[in-house]
Amino acid sequence: MDSYSLSAAAKINLYLEVVGDRPDGYHELVMVMQSVGLTDRVTVRRTGAHHIRLQCNHPDVPNDETNLAYRAAALLQASFPQVMEHWGGIEIIIEKNIPVGAGLAGGSTNAAAVLVGLDMLWQLGLTQIELQTLAAELGSDIPFCIAGGTAIATGRGEQVDTLYGLDGLYAVLAKSPTLSVSTPWAYKTYRQAFADTYMDITTAGPSRREHLHSSPMMTAISQQDGDAIGQHLYNDLEKVVLSAHPEVNEVKTALASCGGLGTLMSGSGPTLFTLTASQSEAEAIVQQMRSRYSDSQLGLWIAPLVPTSLQLIES
Ligand code: C5P
Repeated sequence: MDSYSLSAAAKINLYLEVVGDRPDGYHELVMVMQSVGLTDRVTVRRTGAHHIRLQCNHPDVPNDETNLAYRAAALLQASFPQVMEHWGGIEIIIEKNIPVGAGLAGGSTNAAAVLVGLDMLWQLGLTQIELQTLAAELGSDIPFCIAGGTAIATGRGEQVDTLYGLDGLYAVLAKSPTLSVSTPWAYKTYRQAFADTYMDITTAGPSRREHLHSSPMMTAISQQDGDAIGQHLYNDLEKVVLSAHPEVNEVKTALASCGGLGTLMSGSGPTLFTLTASQSEAEAIVQQMRSRYSDSQLGLWIAPLVPTSLQLIES
């Protein structure tokens, strides 16, 4: 095959707890991640030239080596130097639907799709664990984006334990078009405000992970109980992002007042989501939000919670 196209899903965080500082400068986290059916289309195809080229239909997405998807290809090429000599260069084509700088892992899921697509294109035969190990060098969310579905993510976020997936739930996603939040800024600001609450991660990392395992959120997930999941949504980073950006707080309040099972900011934001038990409830919430924000450009999407992140759609 000369070309593979994959759909690459966004993620939301159903739970995000900051445990403390890691020696590598990152934060130790305990999270529940969930793939949602809002997808980009990522194509990798062979070209005659011996280099990596990237194009994307979104003006804010860079098409050079600063793009995570480009860096994913460069990492695979560096790890397997013979591949380009054997197969020639590649082109990556990204058709963007996932909002950029949104806390939905759009860049990470594109990089995951490139790793999986090139594994097929270059016939590398890597296992999921091998792909996830490479992915962790590029970004903390990318190993989850390879696995997809519902998962507990710990460490930097790169240690992924897949759970039995959630079925039948939907998310209404809301994002202001003019605002994006930098992830490094969110974590740095959180550290400035809450360093005194940080725990020693050597003991607290495992104990907070255990705590999550026996928490009401995990019971709710294992029982597929949408109401209880909605009640136990949690994200530490809301504490800094909602206070620094009152407009995000305002959208959260509006979204939460429309009904649904529960409302939370995803990752480092600014996207907010409300869970619903059906597509029709999600549509009703979108309608209410559109009438409330009739003259704004507030982005609203309905996405089912899905069991996978990456799917081959064409080869
Ligand atoms: O791993 P990734 O490149 O996605 O992380 C982006 C930034 O977010 C990091 O440079 C760091 O500032 C912050 N971060 C963190 N702790 C994590 C994940 C990310 O402090 N576990």
